[in-house]
Amino acid sequence: EQIRDLYQEVVFDHNRNPRNFRVMEDANRKIEGFNPLCGDKITLYVKVNDGVIEDVSFQGSGCAISTASASLMTELVKGQSEEEAQHLFDIFHRITTGKDDAVNLEELGKLAVLAGVRAYPARVKCATLAWHSLQAALKNEKDTVSTE
Ligand code: FES
Ligand code: FES
Repeated sequence: EQIRDLYQEVVFDHNRNPRNFRVMEDANRKIEGFNPLCGDKITLYVKVNDGVIEDVSFQGSGCAISTASASLMTELVKGQSEEEAQHLFDIFHRITTGKDDAVNLEELGKLAVLAGVRAYPARVKCATLAWHSLQAALKNEKDTVSTE
């Protein structure tokens, strides 16, 4: 119950006022994320310098959950090392696939709200879009990634 409320609050806030929602001209990695289930797309821009994510931003028109998830993701990984960002992705993956039942809310902090997507299984792909794009950026892939 608590996590549902927190989740709804965060989705509302980040969708209304998305953080890091802008084009980045000097990004050194750029990924197009695509959700074939609905056709929504985001573009993720990442500037990596010396193994650190110096800047990250996104653009695109997705649903409230995909926008909020992308916004939250950029906030979480900005200023982190690539390794730390990969670690966050792994946590996200475990939460959304239900493999992390012992989710420690305090330890995960804001990321814990992502566990809320499990309360709405049909929308998991929406929340996943930004994170798959991040994963591709960390792997330095050049292509479009999809949520499938
Ligand atoms: Fe787990 Fe994509 S986040 S498969
Ligand atoms: Fe398209 Fe959510 S409905 S990403």
